[in-house]
Amino acid sequence: MAKLFLLQASLLAALASSVQASFHAVTGNYNVTGYNWTNTGLSANLTALVSGQVPNLVLTVTYVTDDILRVHITDADSPRFEVPNIVQLSGSNYDSTNYNVTLQNFPFSLSVTRLSDGRVLLDTASSLQFVSNDIYWPNQFNGSAKVFGLGERVTSDFALGTGVYTSWARDNPSPVDNGTYPGNNMYGVHPFFLAVDTNLNNSAFGGFFVNANAQDAFVDSNLVAWRTIGGVVDYYVLDGPTIPQVIDQYHSLIGYPTLVPYWGLGWHQSRWGYNSTKALKSVLIKYNNLDLPLDALWSDIDYMSAFEDFTVDSTNFAGLGSLVQSLHGMNKHYVPILDSGISNANYAGYINGTAMNVFLPSPITPNQPYTATAWPGSSVWVDWNSVNATTYWGNALYSLYNQVNFDGLWLDMNEATTFCNGECGVNPVFNETALPYLPGNYSIQNKAIDLAVQHAGGVLNTEYNLHSLWGYYEAMATNNFFSQYMQKRPFIISRSTFAGEGTFASHWLGDNLSQWAYLRYSIIGIYNFHLFGIPLVGADICGFDGNSTAELCARWTQLGALYPFSRNHNSNNTVSQEPWAFDQTLLTTSRQAIRVKYSLMLYYYNLMFTQSLRGGVWFQPAFFEYPNDPVLFANSSDSFMIGSNLLVHPVLTQGVSTLQAYFPKDDWYNLYTGAYINATVNQTFTLDADLPGLVNIHVQGGSIIPTLIDSTTAMNVIDLRNSSISLVIAPSNATGTATGYVVFDDGMNPNTIAQDKFEIVQYQWYALDSTISYLTVSVLTDNYYVKPTWEFPTIKSLKIYGSTARPDNIVWYNADYEYEVPYDVDVDTDMQVVTITFDNGIISDDSATLEFTY
Ligand SMILES: *[C@@H]1O[C@H](CO)[C@@H](O)[C@H](O)[C@H]1NC(C)=O
Ligand SMILES: *[C@@H]1O[C@H](CO)[C@@H](O)[C@H](O)[C@H]1NC(C)=O
Ligand SMILES: *[C@@H]1O[C@H](CO)[C@@H](O)[C@H](O)[C@H]1NC(C)=O
Ligand SMILES: *[C@@H]1O[C@H](CO)[C@@H](O)[C@H](O)[C@H]1NC(C)=O
Ligand SMILES: *[C@@H]1O[C@H](CO)[C@@H](O)[C@H](O)[C@H]1NC(C)=O
Ligand SMILES: *[C@@H]1O[C@H](CO)[C@@H](O)[C@H](O)[C@H]1NC(C)=O
Ligand SMILES: *[C@@H]1O[C@H](CO)[C@@H](O)[C@H](O)[C@H]1NC(C)=O
Ligand SMILES: *[C@@H]1O[C@H](CO)[C@@H](O)[C@H](O)[C@H]1NC(C)=O
Ligand SMILES: *[C@@H]1O[C@H](CO)[C@@H](O)[C@H](O)[C@H]1NC(C)=O
Ligand SMILES: *[C@@H]1O[C@H](CO)[C@@H](O)[C@H](O)[C@H]1NC(C)=O
Ligand SMILES: *[C@@H]1O[C@H](CO)[C@@H](O)[C@H](O)[C@H]1NC(C)=O
Ligand SMILES: *[C@@H]1O[C@H](CO)[C@@H](O)[C@H](O)[C@H]1NC(C)=O
Repeated sequence: MAKLFLLQASLLAALASSVQASFHAVTGNYNVTGYNWTNTGLSANLTALVSGQVPNLVLTVTYVTDDILRVHITDADSPRFEVPNIVQLSGSNYDSTNYNVTLQNFPFSLSVTRLSDGRVLLDTASSLQFVSNDIYWPNQFNGSAKVFGLGERVTSDFALGTGVYTSWARDNPSPVDNGTYPGNNMYGVHPFFLAVDTNLNNSAFGGFFVNANAQDAFVDSNLVAWRTIGGVVDYYVLDGPTIPQVIDQYHSLIGYPTLVPYWGLGWHQSRWGYNSTKALKSVLIKYNNLDLPLDALWSDIDYMSAFEDFTVDSTNFAGLGSLVQSLHGMNKHYVPILDSGISNANYAGYINGTAMNVFLPSPITPNQPYTATAWPGSSVWVDWNSVNATTYWGNALYSLYNQVNFDGLWLDMNEATTFCNGECGVNPVFNETALPYLPGNYSIQNKAIDLAVQHAGGVLNTEYNLHSLWGYYEAMATNNFFSQYMQKRPFIISRSTFAGEGTFASHWLGDNLSQWAYLRYSIIGIYNFHLFGIPLVGADICGFDGNSTAELCARWTQLGALYPFSRNHNSNNTVSQEPWAFDQTLLTTSRQAIRVKYSLMLYYYNLMFTQSLRGGVWFQPAFFEYPNDPVLFANSSDSFMIGSNLLVHPVLTQGVSTLQAYFPKDDWYNLYTGAYINATVNQTFTLDADLPGLVNIHVQGGSIIPTLIDSTTAMNVIDLRNSSISLVIAPSNATGTATGYVVFDDGMNPNTIAQDKFEIVQYQWYALDSTISYLTVSVLTDNYYVKPTWEFPTIKSLKIYGSTARPDNIVWYNADYEYEVPYDVDVDTDMQVVTITFDNGIISDDSATLEFTY
């Protein structure tokens, strides 16, 4: 005990030397005064040994599943705030657990051990502290691990260094957070971590601290401990033991991501400063004239009248409604911004909300709404706990929709951020200096609604408790508007997020900088949001604040076109950065980059779709797929994987035309040419990286990648929906086999998964011997009955990598029927690529076998 305490005390001293609060856990703050093991877990009573601690606590331990354990500790005598309804998996559902729980009574300590290898996943030692507004949840583990996750922040490495990481939703434009005070946390709160053993013995585990109050997480190689200033201890132990299992366990708790519309994966153009309908129209014309695909045009705050939500500036944006109609005529989409602060001028947004009693009350004069300055000037904010909030929001969005038929919404400033601290012109009612501990060691009242504001629904619903959930509830109400009111699949990009928000909305990484370092940071940011279950995510391509340059913008477009969410966006006081803004190199590179993503649109959609079905991540560091490779582990943002089968080496530095690229031990083929990389011995290869040019993408041996032939001409992703498919078949050297799949649905129904309206088709390639090989088409789920003919493209060609074998004959057959397939074949003996083109195409979604005879 003494030794454990010394570790924590020294860590805290080193990390938090400037923190006011004293730390209490010397010999243990609690004893267990009664306990009861049951077949679903454990309950116990804890009694304080030290004054100042909450005198009586109730501990409840629940075996949630074989691999997930919940620990809940709260005040036995009075109710405390708890995060409502985030966790989707409750109760006990297990056969026999893969972990073991140990309770020590005098003083209290709790530990959880993984049975298979004895790893300690949780050890509180005797250091639990439970002061009313200062809870310390100690959480040590044995061995040595790298820690990932823990909320939204910019970090130079995916793995978090030893340090303290603060969580509290706030508008903080992309400072680098190196784990020292003051905290540099940003918009999103996700108190989840993934820990991976540094010995790379494929041992991983995780933890989820369900708490929304301002908090610090202390990270070291054997520790993730939380110190929070409210709520309760509600902690989930996730026992892994592999990285994908930890992620699956977390996603099963927070819920799987909302299914996004097909067009959401396409290319988006935005900027602050498209200040008229004419300006938007000229961007659209440029895209069309320059042969650049575009899926959505966006408006920042420029379009509103006086920055008032739900209004359109009738002077500068006259005709916006008809511009949006013409966008729709071109199968393109429109996404405007909304701010969190609603003007309290005499306009419908305010009048309706007042009549419906949905605004947060002032803590000074509670019969008046709370006001502070935001974009429209004096503003009020919706109380999402108020009875009428969702109805008010739906009506207001509908009134905007009646003016402009938007397709998605961009929710900004929803931390929620104001331009004041509390109410403008007066000190906040909330007295932060009275707090025993200040997470992050900065003012949590900064740019925030007065933390003393009382929300509806009970005295515990203070802004102090609910602050970091404002964006979560706004996204929930907005999702309700799209899915219930409009019967459309929601497309929502929200700046502030909380654990579980992926079930409603998506995200962009906020206000970044037009600097080279931010290319790498963006990759890490996307990794994090995949861990957090919010997969449609990207950074502002070419950078938001500061001026971009031709070369930076070209490299960023190469990378950004491969983000799940690909949007070029820019601040108002900066030089233009559209694909045509600098030079011909950028223009050519951009066109190629966007078309590469379009060629992979089916592959992206497959990944997105299956993640909504069963969780997991797919924009990921290669070490998630090759967990025992120390080079990948140590350099996790040099490359990334899209799904399990594509490895990307982006250029992240200025002034290069080649790249030293590390490949994990496997078979790799250049996606575009089929050129083979033999990563068996020396795994660093020099790749061409000229501009203009294509980003380096390699296909893993053993995989089949569906590519879309019309990507060379499509002007939006809807144009791709009737495109024929070319299957890139990259057989594994060892087995000669390859596998891939596609998902077909209508791409827009909000209830596709609930109503089972989709089809999954698997393709498999294998050889019987050197004279016969097969391609099988297997329909795995076939519930997509609405089948407009154009929804089901044919397979027009196959590109078989690593082969020079020319088939003499190809036969298609199923149980009832067979025919000889007419085809052309081209063999590239240098590259070792066989291209087979079918005269009539092969049906992509009927179970059948193609037999190739040589
Ligand atoms: C905890 O204390 C309460 C109140 O004294 C008692 O009813 C309950 O049985 C105790 N539980 C255990 C597990 O000892
Ligand atoms: C212990 O748990 C059992 C089973 O749930 C219950 O019947 C019993 O009342 C509990 N005892 C105490 C002291 O809480
Ligand atoms: C679980 O832990 C307890 C206390 O350390 C120990 O007595 C018990 O044997 C362990 N059970 C297993 C299956 O390891
Ligand atoms: C961390 O960043 C701060 C600036 O935010 C800097 O002052 C400090 O030196 C950095 N510390 C380390 C260890 O890099
Ligand atoms: C819109 O922006 C352009 C270019 O920055 C500027 O010249 C023009 O004056 C602006 N128009 C309005 C109405 O603000
Ligand atoms: C909801 O709005 C209606 C007006 O539409 C109002 O009469 C009612 O009082 C509001 N409900 C609450 C709980 O504020
Ligand atoms: C305000 O309410 C009126 C009457 O129901 C409705 O027509 C209008 O669209 C609403 N506007 C907003 C911004 O909510
Ligand atoms: C705020 O709290 C501090 C510390 O408890 C106290 O000294 C101060 O008087 C309080 N300020 C106000 C305005 O109540
Ligand atoms: C960006 O470029 C503009 C126009 O050249 C210039 O006025 C501005 O100062 C530049 N901004 C920065 C941050 O360099
Ligand atoms: C950009 O926005 C700032 C803040 O509103 C404003 O002061 C400035 O004039 C804007 N610049 C342009 C070019 O629109
Ligand atoms: C890959 O390299 C290894 C070692 O040089 C060699 O043995 C093997 O034949 C090569 N494989 C291919 C397919 O070129
Ligand atoms: C292995 O790769 C490194 C880095 O690219 C290179 O310097 C070295 O010459 C290579 N060695 C062999 C044997 O190919």
